[in-house]
Amino acid sequence: MKQTDLTSAYGLIHLPAKVTLAAVEKPDGGYNLITLEWFMRTSIQPPMFAISIGHSRYSHECLLESRYFNLIFPSVEMKPLCAMAGSSSGRDTDKLDLGKVDFLPGKLHKLPVPKDAVAVFECEVTSQVRSGDHTIFVGEVRYSWANPDRTLLVYS
Ligand SMILES: Cc1cc2nc3c(=O)[nH]c(=O)nc-3n(C[C@H](O)[C@H](O)[C@H](O)COP(=O)(O)O)c2cc1C
Repeated sequence: MKQTDLTSAYGLIHLPAKVTLAAVEKPDGGYNLITLEWFMRTSIQPPMFAISIGHSRYSHECLLESRYFNLIFPSVEMKPLCAMAGSSSGRDTDKLDLGKVDFLPGKLHKLPVPKDAVAVFECEVTSQVRSGDHTIFVGEVRYSWANPDRTLLVYS
C-alpha cells in the first residue's frame, strides 16, 4: 500500500460497475434518459434511492422542474442504449426515439418503464443536496417493476 494520486486510486476501484438509467420529464414535454453510475439505496422504510447528477447535464435542469425520476436497471441487451444515453444530451437528442426504446407509461407520472429493463423504481424527489459540481437527488420509491427473465448489465 502506498499513498498516491486520486486518478491512480480511483482507476483500481472504478470497474466493474453497475450502471442505471434515469428517466426524467423534459420541461417542454417528453422524456429524457441519462446514464448514471452514481446511485445508491438510502433507506429501507420508506424505500429510497439517491442519484448524483452533474450541474451541466440537461437532466439536472429537468429535475429542478419536475420532481420525478424512474431509476432503470438495464439488462445486458440495453448496453448500447446506456452508451448513447451517457454520451449525448437530451438538449438536442430524443434519446428514447433514437434508442428505439419500447416502454410502458409508469403509474406515478407516466415516466417511461422500458420493457427490456431488469427492474424499474418510480421515485418522487423528496430532498436534494449539493455535492460539489453535482446535486444528489433523493427519491422515495412509489412503484416498482421487475422483469425476472432479463440479466442485469454490469459495465466492465
Ligand atoms: C457509464 C456512465 C456512467 C455515468 N454516470 C454518471 C453519473 O452518475 N452522474 C452524472 O451526472 N453523469 C454520469 N454520466 C454522464 C452522463 O450520462 C452524460 O453526461 C449524459 O450525456 C448527460 O445527458 P443529459 O445532458 O441528457 O442529461 C455517466 C456516463 C456513463 C457513460
